[in-house]
Amino acid sequence: MTKGIKKAIFPAAGLGTRFLPATKASPKEMMPIVDKPMIQYGVEEALSCHLNEIVIITGKHKRSIEDHFDYSYELEAQLKKSGKKQLINEINRLNRINIAYIRQGYALGLGHAIFRAKPFVKDEPFAVILSDDIIPPEETLLKDMLALYKEMKCPILALEKVSMSEIHRYGVIDGVKEHDKVFRINNLIEKPDAKNAPSDMAIIGRYILTPDIFDILEKARPGRGGEVQLTDAIRSLLKTRQVYGFLYSGKRYDAGDKFGYLKATVDFALKNPELSKVFRPYLLEVVKRFRG
Ligand code: G1P
Repeated sequence: MTKGIKKAIFPAAGLGTRFLPATKASPKEMMPIVDKPMIQYGVEEALSCHLNEIVIITGKHKRSIEDHFDYSYELEAQLKKSGKKQLINEINRLNRINIAYIRQGYALGLGHAIFRAKPFVKDEPFAVILSDDIIPPEETLLKDMLALYKEMKCPILALEKVSMSEIHRYGVIDGVKEHDKVFRINNLIEKPDAKNAPSDMAIIGRYILTPDIFDILEKARPGRGGEVQLTDAIRSLLKTRQVYGFLYSGKRYDAGDKFGYLKATVDFALKNPELSKVFRPYLLEVVKRFRG
């Protein structure tokens, strides 16, 4: 019997240039969506799928990620004093998560970041979660991908149909539908122009990968943008094994982009029972103002 997947890699060493100057000295991953930093949504998603061994690939100016998932004795003492039990429980929940940190050193691309996790992952299959793609907790994308992996024993990439005007922001696949939402991938291109895109199916930030990707990443040369691209490494993997895509049609927020970040903030605020009491009427008032 094969063991279930337990490990999830979170690349978090990027410079977050789309959010400058906010990200000059603090990590993009720590920007809050309502009251949780972006990365916490991804970590909670991993835990809900029993991916209990987490590695975060960090870099310069990323120390606050480690502090966030660590004990804060002063804060706990203060909350105890003021009788804020619920907040203490919420904060303590984070401390119990088993997280390892690996520094990327140089931000040489997603493929390079994943390769840095090799000593932690060794010879097991693993998940990759790009935390700026936020998937709401009621969705089952990662669970479905893990179930598909169990059946296929092949790398699985999360796919979403995107409009051709957005396609240049993604890795894009060429594939054949096997059944339902499952596609056998024939080719992948990192961030093609609309005219060179092999389809409208983009790779989004959830992957199930097998450890043979490390042998390819070890020898990988920089690709698009001078970075070692995970997409290129997966294309090389196609020579030796099948790779599948799982077409997702649920909700996703690209919170690495300002507009996506705002959409996530608004939707999560509306789902927050306390906040929505005041936020919903406020939004209606704003809409009214725009309608004139
Ligand atoms: C990365 C990958 C790209 C993928 C995207 C999903 O790009 O390189 O293939 O489509 O994540 O979010 P990035 O957004 O880091 O530029």
